[in-house]
Amino acid sequence: MSLAGKYLLVTAGPTIEPLDPVRFLSNHSTGKMGYAIAGELATRGARVALISGRTNLAAPAGVERIDVLSAEEMYRAVMERFPQADGAVMCAAVADYTPAQVSTTKLKKGEGDLVIRLKRTKDIAAEAGRTKGGRLLVGFALETDHERDNALDKMRRKHFDFIVLNSLRDPGAGFAGDTNKITLMDAQGGIDEYPLETKSAAAVRIADRIERWFSDRPATR
Ligand code: CTP
Repeated sequence: MSLAGKYLLVTAGPTIEPLDPVRFLSNHSTGKMGYAIAGELATRGARVALISGRTNLAAPAGVERIDVLSAEEMYRAVMERFPQADGAVMCAAVADYTPAQVSTTKLKKGEGDLVIRLKRTKDIAAEAGRTKGGRLLVGFALETDHERDNALDKMRRKHFDFIVLNSLRDPGAGFAGDTNKITLMDAQGGIDEYPLETKSAAAVRIADRIERWFSDRPATR
């Protein structure tokens, strides 16, 4: 129960960005990695709030699940709780863009092409990074090329304490399926690459690293 007394947020799953009452933009995230992490942290005694986009998964035992749909809703749910938290794990696949206008009525087809204007969403992880103080912040990076450089850049830009890198070049890694191949990179320059393993085994490694981070720092807030 080494995380007893810690309050941790975990974001997971995809966001859904509405176009009209029946259509949306989203991505292939299943939420499995975030749910596995939330469950593992709760097993170790943490109080966990799982801020989840739409998934087919049941909340792990002992975890409080907060359901959200859009990036904006996820942003609000995280920011409401982050000041009280000891840390956050940003595992969600948050849309970077959302339709600039949401039609209240179903869009009807016309003769020609349809152009949809998108606007940027708020970056939840970056905002948490700006206000983190002594809290733990863990980010994720899903990359197809220049993986380590891109992940390092993300970690620095968003003030993560460490980042979990998934390369889409590794077969068996990423959104689909029950396996993942992760590399953990920390702000001190440490790099640990792990073999292809189940998402629950990867969650154990991430939770181990989180525990170690807290045990090196007696006061977090
Ligand atoms: N993230 C977030 N809010 C967003 C976008 C991303 O919290 N609006 C978090 C993700 O949960 C993840 C990390 O930021 O922890 C990913 O960083 P990002 O640079 O946004 O990755 P990509 O979306 O893959 O960006 P890019 O298109 O630049 O590769």
